[in-house]
Amino acid sequence: PNLTDMVCLHDFDWAARNYLPALNYTYYRQAAGGEGSYRNNMEAFANYRFIPRQMQDVTALNSTLSTSILGYNFSLPFFIAPASRGAYGHPKAEAGLVEAAGREGILYARSQYATLSIEEVHALKAPGQVLFQQFYRAPTLEEDQANIDEIAKVGVQGIMLTIDTSSYGSRIRGFRYGFDATENRGYRNVTWDYYKTLRNMTKLPIVLKGITNLQDARDAVANGVPAIYLSNHGGRQLETSPSALEVAHDIYLQAPEIFQQIEVYADGGIRYGSDILKLLAFGVRAVGLGRPFMFANVFGVDGVQRAIQLLRNEVSRDAANLGLADLKALNTSWIQTVQSAWI
Ligand code: FNR
Repeated sequence: PNLTDMVCLHDFDWAARNYLPALNYTYYRQAAGGEGSYRNNMEAFANYRFIPRQMQDVTALNSTLSTSILGYNFSLPFFIAPASRGAYGHPKAEAGLVEAAGREGILYARSQYATLSIEEVHALKAPGQVLFQQFYRAPTLEEDQANIDEIAKVGVQGIMLTIDTSSYGSRIRGFRYGFDATENRGYRNVTWDYYKTLRNMTKLPIVLKGITNLQDARDAVANGVPAIYLSNHGGRQLETSPSALEVAHDIYLQAPEIFQQIEVYADGGIRYGSDILKLLAFGVRAVGLGRPFMFANVFGVDGVQRAIQLLRNEVSRDAANLGLADLKALNTSWIQTVQSAWI
């Protein structure tokens, strides 16, 4: 298929499935168990409806799409989530991701298990481009320190510490394609003690990626974490863990002040601009997408750029039809659950 045939994010999944070797596609697409969380991440958005308003002047809307993440300015409230093995999708691996993010002014967060080294990714930066680095706990603190030193050397602006991967997930779909179903490397707990140890190794802000529960969000505030990232890892870790949208709703109901106290990001199942608007309505500051950009990267940098542009147009069209004059004015008064208008 041609790039111009791609008119929404799901089209890139379809194209990648047709084009890539089955193993490569499956690595990107797989999720844990019966993939209920994977599906729920996408389907949960349908449990929320907009309350559109008419007779609003939305002509200035496009000038309100930008945001800041930990003090850095970006053109749009969505970013490229960290995802490993870029070479499975394109011979230039993550080049398309970092370059498209640079062209469009959005954040790219490099996975610790990216194909391209951290130096190779940073060599591709546009002038002034801000990159974050995802971080997994290593087997030893010496290795952690070495990873931190590497991050500091290339000029990363923020670290996303992944906290939802004590073990690899039970990704059955992938096991069918040769990823080892019986391997068990033992468990690496990311605890609050570990977080404090890591914080002492670097001056960079450390975001916690993989919050799935209100209490952990409260603990993050209490421990002075600069930002939390609601995520069930795209449903790849624990089957039937909640979607970021559901967790955002729970935080909103029980501790809405958290959205003011620290920055909150979210990902999982976002495929349409309307999905983004619903997360922003709860107070989420910016959202990530994993698979859609990996599939778009099968077309290289132009594919990823097109995916960003398609999504930007959806966000802006949907916000206009919602009657929003300013994207930053979005709040829960614009949405309701399908069951009842109890928000
Ligand atoms: C991921 N994700 C991920 N997360 C992380 O913290 N470190 C990593 O190395 C990876 N690797 C990775 C590879 C692939 C192929 C995918 C699809 C995902 C999770 C990722 O950051 C994000 O949380 C999810 O992808 C969001 O869900 P969607 O957008 O894919 O539905």
